Amino acid sequence: MTELIEALNPPVADRGTGSVRTGTPVSRVDGRAKVTGQAKYAAELPAPDLAYGVVVSSPAAKGRIVAIDTQAALAVPGVVEVLTHLNRPKIRSFDIAYKDMTAPAGSPFRPLYDDRVMYSGQPLALVVAETFEAARYAASLVRFEIDTEPHGTKLSANLERAYKPKPLKAGYEPPPDEKGNTDAAYAQAPVKIDAEFYSGVEHHNPMELFASTVIRDPSGHLTIYDKTQSSQNSRWYVSHVFGLSKNKVTVRNPYVGGAFGSGLRPQYQLTLAVMAALHLKRSVRVVLTRQQMFSFGHRPETVQRVKLAADNDGTLRAIWHQAIAETSPIEDYVEVVVNWSGMLYQCDNIKLDYKLVKLDHYTPIDMRAPGAAHGVHALEVAMDELAWELKMDPLALRLKNYAERSPVEDKPYSSKELRACYELAAKKFGWDQRPLNPRSMREGTELIGWGMATGVWDAMQMFARASAVLHADGKLVVSSAATDIGTGTYTVMAMIAAEALGLPLEDVTFQLGDSTLPVAPIEGGSSHVTTVGSAVAGVCEKLQKTLFKHAKALSHSPFANTRFKDVEFTGGALRLKRDPQVALPLAAIMNDSGVVRLEEKYLMLPNMLKQRKFRRLVHSAVFVEVRVDEQTGVVRVTRVTSAVAAGRIMNLKTATSQVVGGIVWGISQALHEETYADHRLGRFMNHNYAEYHVPVNADIHAVDVIFAEEDDRIVSRLGAKGVGEIGIVGVAAAVSNAIWHATGKRLRSTPMTPDKVLGGGP
Ligand code: MOS
Repeated sequence: MTELIEALNPPVADRGTGSVRTGTPVSRVDGRAKVTGQAKYAAELPAPDLAYGVVVSSPAAKGRIVAIDTQAALAVPGVVEVLTHLNRPKIRSFDIAYKDMTAPAGSPFRPLYDDRVMYSGQPLALVVAETFEAARYAASLVRFEIDTEPHGTKLSANLERAYKPKPLKAGYEPPPDEKGNTDAAYAQAPVKIDAEFYSGVEHHNPMELFASTVIRDPSGHLTIYDKTQSSQNSRWYVSHVFGLSKNKVTVRNPYVGGAFGSGLRPQYQLTLAVMAALHLKRSVRVVLTRQQMFSFGHRPETVQRVKLAADNDGTLRAIWHQAIAETSPIEDYVEVVVNWSGMLYQCDNIKLDYKLVKLDHYTPIDMRAPGAAHGVHALEVAMDELAWELKMDPLALRLKNYAERSPVEDKPYSSKELRACYELAAKKFGWDQRPLNPRSMREGTELIGWGMATGVWDAMQMFARASAVLHADGKLVVSSAATDIGTGTYTVMAMIAAEALGLPLEDVTFQLGDSTLPVAPIEGGSSHVTTVGSAVAGVCEKLQKTLFKHAKALSHSPFANTRFKDVEFTGGALRLKRDPQVALPLAAIMNDSGVVRLEEKYLMLPNMLKQRKFRRLVHSAVFVEVRVDEQTGVVRVTRVTSAVAAGRIMNLKTATSQVVGGIVWGISQALHEETYADHRLGRFMNHNYAEYHVPVNADIHAVDVIFAEEDDRIVSRLGAKGVGEIGIVGVAAAVSNAIWHATGKRLRSTPMTPDKVLGGGP
C-alpha cells in the first residue's frame, strides 16, 4: 500500500506558477469541486417546478401486457401522471431513430413503445409526482397483467443455437480468417492442452446512479443533464427518437461519477424523462434505483474453449480459441473476445471463432476492456497450463513465443514495449524466486502462490474538433464536447494546452460535457487522450503559429528573422530555443498587436492510411501473489505488480489511478463479481450491494504500477496510446494462475469463489 500511496502522492509540486509539463504527476483540476460537493451530477441539478419520475419494472421476462391498473397510483397525493405505452407522447417508429452512435446491429430497445415484454426488469411505466417519495410509493402500486410466454435466459442450455453475428458495430473487428492449418498442427504437436472457461454475468456498478434531469424552459427548449459518456450521443438519440431539432435540445454531462461503458449508450431513464417532460410540459428528473441499474446491459455471460499446442521446447504450434457469448433477441451485441489470441504470441497456426446466443435479457453492453477482460483471461490461463505441461516457467514461455510482428495478420506493431513490461514487473515482483512446482510456499494457515499474465488492449484514435480562445490577460479556454467519466479528462486536456503555450495550469480552462461544444467522440475505448488530446494539441499549435506571426510583425521584433521551428513557448512567453532570454510574454504580443482575443478551431482526423499499416495495441504484464486458506477457501490477493506500455503517459498520477482502478476491478472479476439469474423467472437475483460483491478496501493490498517507456507517434501526435482499460486485462488470469500455484487447483471459471477453491472443480 505504501508504494501505491507514494505513486499517488508524489513529492512533486503539482501547482506551481510555472508552466506544466505532460508526463508529470498532476492532481485533478476538478478534485476540489468534487470533494466539496460543488461538482453537480445529473441527479443534482436544480430546476424550478421539477417533477420526479420513478420507473416501474417488469416482473415477467417475456410476454404481452394485457391490462394495466394505475388507479391506486394515481390516487396517491402528489402524483401527476402514470405514463405507459398507452398514453406516452409520440415517438418514432423506425429502428434507425433509436440507433445511438454505438448501437450494434439489430433493432434497439424502445422504452414504453408497445405491449411487448422482452426481459425481466424492463421499464413498463413511469410514475411522475411532485415529490420523489410520492412517485416511489405510487410506483409500488402500479399493477400489470402480463400474458407470459416461455423465456430462455440460460446460456449453457442454449449453446446449440449459437450463430455468427453480423459485424456491424463501430470499432468492432470480427475474428480474422484462419492462419495455417490449426487442427493439423494441434494433432501433430507433442504437448497440448484443451480447456474450457466460463465467465458469469457482471453488472455495472458505478457510484453514480443513472439519472437524467430534463429542464424545460418556457420556449420548450430542453436542457438535459444526463449521465452519459457522450453528451452528443444522448442529444442525437433524443432528437431522433422524439423528432426534436438539434437546437431544441442541449445535453450536458459536466461530471460523471464513473461509467466504464455503461454510459456508452443512452439509457432508458433519459427516454422516459424526456417523454414525461414533453407530455407534462415541465421539468422532470428520473433516477434509477440500484436494482434498476441491473436492467440495462451487462458484461455478457461467456463460455470459451482454448486449445494450445507446442513443441517440447515451448514453441507454440497451434492456437485455437472459441467463444460463445449471449446477446438479446433484438440486437447482436458484439465485442472482441478471441482476436487477442491472434495478436500476442508468435504462432503459424491460429484459428479464432466467435458466436452469439440470443437470450431473453436486455442487450449486453461494454464494460471496461469489453471482450479482452475475459478473452485474454482464457488465453492467459491456458498459457499457464501449457507452461506447466512443458515444465517451463510461465514467463519464459511468453518470452519464447514473443511476437515481433502481429502474428495472425503479419503486420508490424506501431510500438510494443511488452518485453520491457515483463522485465520491469518481474524484477520488481521478485519473480525469479518463484519455485516451479505448485504448493511450494506456505505461511501459517495459508498457501502462497505466484502467477502472471499478459494484458493487451487497443490503442485507438477517432476524430474530434477543438476550439481555443486566448485572452489578452493570458487566460486560455479550450473546448471540445468530450467527457470526463472520472478518468481525468479535464486535467489532462488542460495540461496539454498549458504545456503547448507555456502557461501555468491555473490559467487554462478546459470545457467539456456540453453537446453544443465542438464535436468529440464518445469517451470509450481508452481513446480520449489520443483523440481529444490530439485535437487540443492541434488547436494550440494553431494558436502558437498565430502568436508567432503577430510577434514577428511587431516593430523591432526580436523574432523578425526567426523561423517557427526555432521558437518555444515556456514560462508565459514566446522564446528563442537556443537563447530563452530572447522572449516576449504572450500578453505583450497580444497587447502590442492590439488583439484582445485570439480564437482558433481545429479538426483532428486520424491518419488512417498510415495507421492501418500497423497493429496498434497497449500491453501490460501483471504479476500477483495470492494467499489461500485451504480451510475456508478464502483467497487474498496480497501483492500485484503491473507494468504497462501505453505510449507516452500524459499525467502520471491520473494514469496510475486508472491502472490501479483496473487492477481492483480485475481482482473483483477474479474473486467477487457475478450476477446470478433465477432462470425460472428469467430474472437477475442479486441486484443490490448486499449480494452483488465488489471489493472493499480490506480486499485490496499492495498494488504497484509501473509504466514502461514508450512513445508512439503513429497512434497519436502526442506519443500517447491511451491508458485505462489495460489496467484490468490479465489481472484475473494472473490471480487464477497464482491460485493454481498456491494450491495445485486449476480454476477455469470466474469469479473464483471459496466454494470453487474448496471444490477444486472449474
Ligand atoms: Mo469503455 S467499456 O470503452 O467505456
